[in-house]
Amino acid sequence: MSAGIDLTEETIFTWGAPPLKFGAGAADEVGFEMSGYGVRRVLIVTDSGVNALGAPQRIADNLRRYKIESEIFDGVHVEPTDDSMNKAVEYARAQGDWDGFVAVGGGSAIDTAKAINLLTSNPGELMDYINKPIGNARVPDGQLKPLIAIPTTAGTGSESTAMCVLDILSMKVKTGISHWRLRPTLAVIDPLLTMSLPPEVTAASGMDIVCHAVESYTARYSTPFDRKKPEQRVTYCGSNPVSDLWCERAMQLLAKSFRKAVHEGFGPDGNLEARSDMMMAATFAGMGFGNSGVHIPHANAYPIAGMVKNYRPPNYPQDEPMVPHGMSVSLTAPEAFRFSFPSVPDRHLRAAALLAPDKDKLNDPSEQLPAVVVDLMRDIEIPNGIGAVGYTEADIPDLVPGTMKQQRILATCPRPVTEEDIAGIFARSIENW
Ligand SMILES: NC(=O)c1ccc[n+]([C@@H]2O[C@H](COP(=O)([O-])OP(=O)(O)OC[C@H]3O[C@@H](n4cnc5c(N)ncnc54)[C@H](O)[C@@H]3O)[C@@H](O)[C@H]2O)c1
Ligand SMILES: [Zn+2]
Repeated sequence: MSAGIDLTEETIFTWGAPPLKFGAGAADEVGFEMSGYGVRRVLIVTDSGVNALGAPQRIADNLRRYKIESEIFDGVHVEPTDDSMNKAVEYARAQGDWDGFVAVGGGSAIDTAKAINLLTSNPGELMDYINKPIGNARVPDGQLKPLIAIPTTAGTGSESTAMCVLDILSMKVKTGISHWRLRPTLAVIDPLLTMSLPPEVTAASGMDIVCHAVESYTARYSTPFDRKKPEQRVTYCGSNPVSDLWCERAMQLLAKSFRKAVHEGFGPDGNLEARSDMMMAATFAGMGFGNSGVHIPHANAYPIAGMVKNYRPPNYPQDEPMVPHGMSVSLTAPEAFRFSFPSVPDRHLRAAALLAPDKDKLNDPSEQLPAVVVDLMRDIEIPNGIGAVGYTEADIPDLVPGTMKQQRILATCPRPVTEEDIAGIFARSIENW
């Protein structure tokens, strides 16, 4: 005991975020920002879809005005894999040295840039740094180079988080690297870049924001854990008062603008206010969950995406089947929130009220949040459950172990969860309405 505090119990939480530059036109100030780090040669990391829209070239031109040389690498795989990240790292090493990096794109480009930055500034290979039990969870000792993250989707919040997510192809599982050194040096968030996002991508990536905010807000609280030593502290510390603030605000912005961004956001004359709100919501939710963590919907999303059979979502690359991240996290969310309700009912009700302030109160309070999430999913045409992306009852025994492998994520689940619980959640998520 010290000053009346039991020091075997956790009393500490941690929180971090990068500096931000936010607003329409902010992407045109990247050269000025990069010049502040004294860099001469920069790699711009993007995917071919985003590159075709021209933003990376505009950024290269802007960098040149500040006498910064750059090259565009557009080989990012949409939803990166170990293979695609290794190829990106090989390219960057072969063409090096780089003084800094600019990521332009969605979570796929930003996460790939984080991996490139890590593996061109520190020794070792991708697998060394990947979370246990899949990798060795090696800690990067050395300082990384400046990385400016410029998101072109409103979703992942990767511009403000300290992790990078990838598919391990041989294991059909998604995992990641998480360490505070991966967090971008600066996030430049320009809602104008999202005016070209098709409704389907706006809907799926926006559901990622919903799940980040709600899962973080309902995650296990940061301090009922056993006390950790400083070197044991992980990026995801559980819900905490600072993350809660950002998540609450993200949910209010989603209530105001998500449907408008999907239905009115597309094209040069689209609804810029709705796009700005969504960009802010994505970053705010990232500043929340990126410190607190997520739980069952995200843990389930990994096998849903990793074991995809034939599903090809409209307006995503069609060369291979995929369940986009934001879609995969939403498909079991209604049922997961029914399951987590009894552990923190007030939080679930408050999240429902923030996301849908005008929704009538249902007789069964545990149904309030699932109903709000389902209303939204229907309105923005997210597929109706895991059945709609190709899974049947017969797949559940194969999906469950993929979820149970995500113990790092399930650690912040507000109540203990068993294989049987997860099997039940999958079974009841084959159709959500
Ligand atoms: N690091 C993190 O904290 C974190 C958090 C959540 C998700 N993720 C990861 O992020 C990835 C998903 O990222 P995402 O949802 O942002 O999408 P994405 O980066 O995979 O892009 C989706 C599609 O949208 C296109 N696109 C992107 N911006 C566009 C624009 N402005 N106009 C037109 N098309 C555009 C891309 O070319 C691509 O085809 C997944 O791999 C996921 O696991 C990372
Ligand atoms: Zn996510």
